[in-house]
Amino acid sequence: MGPGPITVDPRVLRAMSAQLVGQYDPAMTGYMSETQELYREVFRTRNEATVLIDGTSRAGIEAALVSLLSPGDRVLVPVFGRFGHLLREIAERCGAEVHAIEVPWGQVFSLEAIEQAVREVRPRLVALVQGDTSTTMNQPLEGVGAVCHRHGALLYVDCTASLGGNPFEMDAWEVDAATAGLQKCLGGPSGSAPLSLSPRAVEVVRSRSSVEAGLRADPDAGGAPPAERIRSNYFDLGMVLDYWGPQRLNHHTEATTMLYGARECARLLLEEGLQAAVARHRLHGDAMLAGVRGLGLRVFGDVAHKMHNVVAVEIPDGVDGEAVRAELLHDYGIEIGTSFGPLAGRVWRIGTMGYNARKDAVLVTLASLEQVLRRHGAPVEAGAGSAAAQQVYA
Ligand SMILES: Cc1ncc(COP(=O)(O)O)c(C=O)c1O
Repeated sequence: MGPGPITVDPRVLRAMSAQLVGQYDPAMTGYMSETQELYREVFRTRNEATVLIDGTSRAGIEAALVSLLSPGDRVLVPVFGRFGHLLREIAERCGAEVHAIEVPWGQVFSLEAIEQAVREVRPRLVALVQGDTSTTMNQPLEGVGAVCHRHGALLYVDCTASLGGNPFEMDAWEVDAATAGLQKCLGGPSGSAPLSLSPRAVEVVRSRSSVEAGLRADPDAGGAPPAERIRSNYFDLGMVLDYWGPQRLNHHTEATTMLYGARECARLLLEEGLQAAVARHRLHGDAMLAGVRGLGLRVFGDVAHKMHNVVAVEIPDGVDGEAVRAELLHDYGIEIGTSFGPLAGRVWRIGTMGYNARKDAVLVTLASLEQVLRRHGAPVEAGAGSAAAQQVYA
């Protein structure tokens, strides 16, 4: 019951135990095309350029940023938690001129604040996290893409923690590049990063990409690399798109087992229905929120902007947060999350996401937490957490 990774849906585990097939087996290329179509629906986009990056979520982030940014490009990063800092660092490593704006952890940006910064910085790219797991905040995105486009910038969004459990509308919100992971609301393991690029983003990528010499009929002829070639081969999205596209131009060896897993995650989500999945995350997130408050615990941050799928709970004075986590794990088999940076030692993060966004998981977690808290001398009213959660379910 942490902020991800989470318990993997058994259907995803079963899918991942299937035998491997060759890279150009029609079954394999069929799965690839089907998975692209599934993730278009998950991202709510018509983008042809929708693929998986083999690697954890930050592989998706690196692929998007290294492929979109040339050294010296101005980038605006609104930072409201750990993962905003990560976007900033990766953009700096790409050689971009990075301008960050910040709000205190536990808050989000207003559209006006983002627009003012875009006016001042005049970036080529705005890089923004949707749900920053470190603070649990969910940055509103409506209008941000339109602001970026009015001022000639592209919009990149990291929706790793929020996708599937909170609304995300890639096309309607004019997002140019989005990346995610499986290990949160999608109910899978880490190791595959779904990614989608708008036609505008593809244009930028194509202007910086080339074909590997060893794939050309005459390696020495033509194909001079562009002046600002993408500085990574593995994350060159032009090459990755050629690999997933109709020409199936060879690149890396696809991580077949992760493809099976990613495909099954999307199938599960779409069988349930995106709106139904978001509503499920909202329901169980609300129940957990009411439950921890029922236990007398305080919740960190601007709760009106909290993601549905995770809550940051302030550790009561005098209670050893790590000892509580250890006892929950040892005695009840339940893992809750610790925190980073300024929140380290101050909050626990409790997730209700993917396969764990379930009533029994919420109620058992609250009942177990109550027992452990009482043992640690916190004044908790017997049954108050579960009762408050049950009221949400009533
Ligand atoms: C919002 C966000 N971005 C990026 C990451 C990095 O993901 P990974 O550890 O899969 O590389 C995480 C992980 O928790 C995350 O929550």
